[in-house]
Amino acid sequence: MMMTKKTDELFAPFGSLAVRNGELIIGGCGANDLAKKYGTPLYVFDVDRAVSTAAAYIGILEKEYPDFTVCYASKAFCCTGIYSFLAPLGVGADVVSGGELYTALKGGMPADRIYFHGNNKTESEISYAIDAGVECFVIDSEREIELIAKHTKKPQNVLVRVNPGVEAHTHRFIQTTTPDSKFGFSIADGSAARIVKSLQNYKNIKFVGLSCHIGSQIFELEPFEIAIEKTTDFILELNRSGIDVKRLDLGGGFGIHYLKGDLPLTPEKYMAHTAKCLKSAVERKHINPPRLVVEPGRSIVGEAGVTLYTVGAIKTIKDVKTYAAVDGGMFENPRVAMYDAEYTAVVADRVNAERTHKYSIAGKCCESGDVLIEGIMLPELHAGDILAVPSTGAYHYSMASNYNRNAVPPVVAVRNGSSAYMVKPQTYEDIVRNDVIPVFSEDKQ
Ligand code: LLP
Repeated sequence: MMMTKKTDELFAPFGSLAVRNGELIIGGCGANDLAKKYGTPLYVFDVDRAVSTAAAYIGILEKEYPDFTVCYASKAFCCTGIYSFLAPLGVGADVVSGGELYTALKGGMPADRIYFHGNNKTESEISYAIDAGVECFVIDSEREIELIAKHTKKPQNVLVRVNPGVEAHTHRFIQTTTPDSKFGFSIADGSAARIVKSLQNYKNIKFVGLSCHIGSQIFELEPFEIAIEKTTDFILELNRSGIDVKRLDLGGGFGIHYLKGDLPLTPEKYMAHTAKCLKSAVERKHINPPRLVVEPGRSIVGEAGVTLYTVGAIKTIKDVKTYAAVDGGMFENPRVAMYDAEYTAVVADRVNAERTHKYSIAGKCCESGDVLIEGIMLPELHAGDILAVPSTGAYHYSMASNYNRNAVPPVVAVRNGSSAYMVKPQTYEDIVRNDVIPVFSEDKQ
């Protein structure tokens, strides 16, 4: 008899995934079948999981703070397919480069729902975004104000990115509002006020609000609470100088499960708390309620992704450790090397088997540091086993590279037992496509 049950508590990061007769099931598809059909390494993306999380953000805000915009943070996972699933929900997009903007538009995201972020937008990105008709820019440098003014004809909406000085408890590389951050203008030292006031001098720039993003993979509510207090204090200060603030963009940063012990909150909890704090601040400070913009990235797509690998070389170093090497590595998951990120894994067709052996799961790149998981207990591994690593939907495909000229793995979308490419596999030909053997001509230059 086929038994389908939810993964147990041991696999909390696997969230809504199921196990059928010991095999991991993602979006109704067997992990081993997917590996056989598409090869490995393979990014598998559970579409309904991402769509239902995005819908949860919308559902709770409709109830708790009806003047809102949910902008999906493209950097977490950017390919045309993701917008085709999220845009119909009414979600907008945060983009930080011309490439992300191009992808979002190609994927069907309306330009008038796109927020263009970035601490160093180039002139060509700015003119492209203006021509495309993006909803707004989030200003993060004085230089870009000049560039926007130079290129736009009609008044262009802008937000100003502020640094309210909140230290979120997360890896220092993904904190963004420490005093030495390259992002935003400090509220404390008066730069933010100076920039906002300077915008009043431009006829073709329309200041509509403030933006702040305090960091990523945050589990606590307190840093968000402090950010709301500090930004609304600043709104009050601007109001006193006669400047209206119509939108408050609080960024993303909502944490997800990677390991059993991780305790992220649900979108409902994060948003209900945000709405409550913002409503309270607005009332206490007698300011006009701004439109609330949130930019979840990781929390929409992170747990929707699972990476499948094939185990290859297994090497025991006597009295030290046993490496089990997989066909992926830092080229498709740089997060371990960059942020000491931690992951769990299961053998895809023996999910519930007893975990009797300890392994370090190595990648295949020529770097000693290319180890994806240190010291994980698993059933005994053999070459050819399919290993599944959960919570790889965010900042994996989007941060992948061709290091060592490994191909970026394809992304396969799964839904109700069907699968289809969302990003096709790269071939060796693709890898050399832009390579040119230089031929120097006689004329200089
Ligand atoms: N809004 C802004 C302005 C951001 O800078 C970011 C992320 C987000 C929204 C989305 O944050 P999320 O909801 O995904 O936490 N590569 C790192 C994460 C870098 C996040 C950068 N900014 C990682 O792999 O953990």
